[in-house]
Amino acid sequence: MSSLALHIPVLLDEVIAGLAPQAGEIHVDGTFGAGGYSRALLGAGANVIAFDRDPDAIAEGAALVAESGGRLTLVADVYSRMVEALAERGIDHVDGVTLDVGVSSMQLDRAERGFSFQTDGPLDMRMGQSGTSAADFVNSADEAEIADVLFHLGEERQSRRVARAIVAARPITRTSELAAIVRRALGYREHDKKDPATRTFQAIRIHVNRELGELEDGLAAAEQALAPGGRLAVVSFHSLEDRIVKRFLKERSGTPAGSRHLPELRAPKPSFEAVAKPVRASDAELARNPRSRSATLRVARRTGASAWAMKGRAS
Ligand SMILES: C[S@@+](CC[C@H](N)C(=O)[O-])C[C@H]1O[C@@H](n2cnc3c(N)ncnc32)[C@H](O)[C@@H]1O
Repeated sequence: MSSLALHIPVLLDEVIAGLAPQAGEIHVDGTFGAGGYSRALLGAGANVIAFDRDPDAIAEGAALVAESGGRLTLVADVYSRMVEALAERGIDHVDGVTLDVGVSSMQLDRAERGFSFQTDGPLDMRMGQSGTSAADFVNSADEAEIADVLFHLGEERQSRRVARAIVAARPITRTSELAAIVRRALGYREHDKKDPATRTFQAIRIHVNRELGELEDGLAAAEQALAPGGRLAVVSFHSLEDRIVKRFLKERSGTPAGSRHLPELRAPKPSFEAVAKPVRASDAELARNPRSRSATLRVARRTGASAWAMKGRAS
C-alpha cells in the first residue's frame, strides 16, 4: 500500500456536500495532505488549487496532478497566503475553500518527522520542514515560556511542573526522551487511560507551526478569496481550533460588537450567511476511522458584502 492510502479523509462526504462543487468552478484545498478532498473535488469536475506547507505532501501529490488533466495545481505554501498565491496565478475569486487543519496521518506515522510520542524520532514536528524545530524550542525557551505554551496550547494543568522537568533535562533531542520526561514529571502509569505526553506534544506542535495564527489568518484570507455565494468548509480537531472558527463565523455573520456606536456606513455588513450547526462524524465513520472522533466541521456561505478588515492590517 502506498503511504498516500494510509490517510483516511475525515468527514469527506459532509465536506463535499457543504462545498457543493460544480464542474468548471475553482476550489481551494488549503490542506492537501494525501489529497482526499482534492480528489473528490476533481471528481465533481472542479478545478483545484491545493496548498500544503509540507514538501513531502506536495511531492507525493504529483501522481494526482498528472491524472487531473491540468485541473489540479499544487502550491507548496501556507494556506494563509492563498490570496497572494491565487493572484500570482491570475485568480481573483474562488467558489470554495476547504481547510482540514492539523497534522496528517503520514506526518504522525513517520517517526523521522518527530511528531509522535509513541515512536522514537528526532524532536522535530515542523510541518514545513524549515524554521524552528521542537528541539530548538524546548532547548532554548525559558521555563516560563515553555509553561505558557503547555498551558495555553496543550491545556496542561501542571504546565509549570512539566516545564521545570524539561529545563532540568536539557538538551533534549529525541521524541522518546521528551515523552519520558513528561511521564516522569506527571507520574504516568502504564494502565493510565491517556498518555500525559499527548498534551505536551500537541502544545509544542501547535506552537512551532504557529497553527492557531495560521488558522486565524487563513479564515480571513478565505473570506477575501471567496466570491459571493462561495462556500467555506473547515474541519478542526480540538476545541482551541474550533473556538477560532466558531468565533470568526459568528462575528462575520452578525453585526460587529460595538457597531451601534459606529456610523451606519462604517459598520461592516455580514460577509457570511448565518451559519448552520457544526457537523460531527457519524457512527459508521467513527467505527471506520477513530481519528474522526474529535473532528468538527463548520460550513458557511459567503455573502456579497466586502471582506472585513484583517486584524492589524489596513482595510
Ligand atoms: C489533516 S491533513 C489534511 C488531509 C487531507 N484533507 C486529505 O484528505 O488527505 C493536514 C495537512 O495540512 C497541512 N497543513 C497544516 N497547516 C497548514 C497550513 N497552515 N498551510 C498549508 N498546509 C498546512 C499539513 O502539512 C497536512 O499535510
